[in-house]
Amino acid sequence: MGRKEQAKEMWGLDAGVEERMAWFRRRGVRVPPRSILRTPEQIAGIRASARINTALLDHIAGMICEGISTAQIDREVYDYTVSHGAVPAPLHYEGFPKSVCVSVNDVVCHGIPSEREILRDGDIVNVDVSTIYEGYYSDASRMFLIGNVDAARRRLVEVTRECMEIGIRAAQPWARLGDVGAAIQAHAERNGYSVVRELCGHGVGLEFHEKPDVEHFGRKGTGMLIVPGMTFTIEPMINMGRRHVFIDAEDGWTVLTEDGLPSAQWESMILITETGNEVLTQ
Ligand code: MF3
Ligand code: CO
Repeated sequence: MGRKEQAKEMWGLDAGVEERMAWFRRRGVRVPPRSILRTPEQIAGIRASARINTALLDHIAGMICEGISTAQIDREVYDYTVSHGAVPAPLHYEGFPKSVCVSVNDVVCHGIPSEREILRDGDIVNVDVSTIYEGYYSDASRMFLIGNVDAARRRLVEVTRECMEIGIRAAQPWARLGDVGAAIQAHAERNGYSVVRELCGHGVGLEFHEKPDVEHFGRKGTGMLIVPGMTFTIEPMINMGRRHVFIDAEDGWTVLTEDGLPSAQWESMILITETGNEVLTQ
């Protein structure tokens, strides 16, 4: 038996991971703190939370349609989550007043559900749900098309989904977070779109937002090392026009495109494994 195998036998799979992290650390690469590498027990808890979160998005997919208010979506999210023994993570998070973010057309993210906002034919809508179950957090979002959506907006939604998938593919063990951002940015810009820079993906699992920040732009071979046991989101916000955004001064939350053109977002949460990654939500 070789030294590596012996180490594995004595200390479990972690021995190899610690060794490789040390190798990168010596070469000046930023490595994740131990606190964001999940134990098998934590992974089981995060998985259970993610299962509810995904089922919730499926439930919303079955009810969302033209003519309903975004407040109706909020009520569905609250009722579904609570009836499954869980808590909606956005509710009262840093003062956020509702259980879900619903972002329509030129709203980039953090849209606050309202009785006054009615979904109309041609809208593109992001529903972003996050769940706390037995103390474990999960997070995901999808786009929904309301009625007849024009070809330009459908393409934006499609390419944004591809950006998320390409980012997931780049998030391999022992790669770098910059590889993820670079892959997403290249695909968005190749399609004539821009990447929002002010908001990013994030570690998630024991808290709503943990280290590291996962930027959706960047340079290959830079940024934190990606290590088995990490759980984080990839959630690119892609604009049809320019990348610049602003926050609604009235509510302090809603993020909008500066040029008023539409924006789309898809979000998944992944677990980095020793051989690749696993999509936990979606
Ligand atoms: N769900 C969002 C994310 O992807 C965060 C929303 S924060 C809230 O990180 F307070 F608006 F809910
Ligand atoms: Co998120």
